[in-house]
Amino acid sequence: MAAIPRTLFRLGRNFLKYRLLTDTSIRSDRFGRAHMADLAARFVKNNEVVGSYLEFGVWRGSTFAQFYHTFRRHQLSLPMYAFDSFQGLPEPGAVDTLPGYEPFSAGQFGCSALVWIDCVLYESARATLEFIRPLLQDGTLIMFNDFYRFKGHPELGERRAFTEFRANYPEILVTDYAKFSSVGQTFLVHTL
Ligand SMILES: C[S@@+](CC[C@H](N)C(=O)[O-])C[C@H]1O[C@@H](n2cnc3c(N)ncnc32)[C@H](O)[C@@H]1O
Repeated sequence: MAAIPRTLFRLGRNFLKYRLLTDTSIRSDRFGRAHMADLAARFVKNNEVVGSYLEFGVWRGSTFAQFYHTFRRHQLSLPMYAFDSFQGLPEPGAVDTLPGYEPFSAGQFGCSALVWIDCVLYESARATLEFIRPLLQDGTLIMFNDFYRFKGHPELGERRAFTEFRANYPEILVTDYAKFSSVGQTFLVHTL
């Protein structure tokens, strides 16, 4: 019998937690994407970092929408740019620059405050990092959604691309920042 009031209590508590509270850091039990977006917005605001939000691998835009609403809640108005081939992921290991696609020119997007990389594979992440290199500034926060995908193997995926990037450009200093979800990792960039 005691199970029924307990269940009702849990239902009520979860309703309050997930529907009424607006602070995602309170709402989220785990350190997931919502929490990461909130932390990133706070970081930009508290450090007065000026620049754009750029997302690579936007697909249907659920992360993009999450950041949009988070920025609004924090009264931040960052220019937001989304990139995708909308062709899904290429075959792993293939050079996945798609035929017929012209590269964007980095000069169009100003400097970056926040960069979200959700391209999963090595080649896509490598191309993205090369693209954003001229947009990096002191305080840019790079967020990899799949850094520890492929069982976290250092020779694969986003992790490999970032290790190579750091080796190729040692003048770009990097600090480990927050981890999120089960496979996400973020880094701060220092250019001074
Ligand atoms: C895992 S999905 C992204 C999910 C999305 N961020 C979200 O929150 O729903 C990966 C996306 O990366 C894109 N992608 C992968 N490699 C790419 C490349 N080389 N150029 C452009 N887009 C690429 C795919 O088209 C796909 O939409």
